[in-house]
Amino acid sequence: MTSASDTGSARAGTSGTPHPIVVLVSGTGTNLQALIDASADPAYGVRIAAVGADRDGIEGLARAERAGIPTFVLRVTDFPTREEWDQALADRVSSYDPALVVSAGFMKLAGEAFLDRFGGRYVNTHPALCPSFPGMHGARDALAYGVKVTGCTLFVVDAGIDTGPIVAQVPVPVVDGDTEESLHERIKTAERSLLVDCVGRMCRHGFTITQRKVTLA
Ligand code: GRF
Repeated sequence: MTSASDTGSARAGTSGTPHPIVVLVSGTGTNLQALIDASADPAYGVRIAAVGADRDGIEGLARAERAGIPTFVLRVTDFPTREEWDQALADRVSSYDPALVVSAGFMKLAGEAFLDRFGGRYVNTHPALCPSFPGMHGARDALAYGVKVTGCTLFVVDAGIDTGPIVAQVPVPVVDGDTEESLHERIKTAERSLLVDCVGRMCRHGFTITQRKVTLA
């Protein structure tokens, strides 16, 4: 993987060797599952080196365990300060030497230590069309606002809340009678395809970030 960026940089990978990634989860892990399934094909060029979480007992961790992928859990409440948790997360993720770190429903903001280490190669998926409806409830907020089209966004994480440079977006219609759940499920279907496509391309071919413009090679 190669990338040049105004917010960070990534190293070059070895051609033919799958690029290691670390995936961070907090919940059900259907986005993670899509990456696990895609990684089974050597042509995809990505190996999930580890799955990390901020809580125990979630289906995301169970999915990783069933696939034989190493897992780790770092709970914020187990650390004296948020900064120490952030540092521990950065250290743990670093130990897997990932080309890319993927937040797939990881419900914690990365702090300074983590972004110092992984800025420019930490991506997150958000269930709305950024910059609209940032935060924890992208689908709910879009529905409440009454938009007719929402969607999903893959972006490179910066210090803000869902404000980083956008890698790709897919529009998703809101239909009459939608609930938060039905809309979020429709968004997640689009989100999984987007994530698999972009993570594979970013790892296999690299990408650049120039003045917020992300270009996949
Ligand atoms: C996704 O919609 C993600 O964007 C959001 O939480 C959801 C996670 O879904 N932050 P899953 O755990 O991958 O099924």
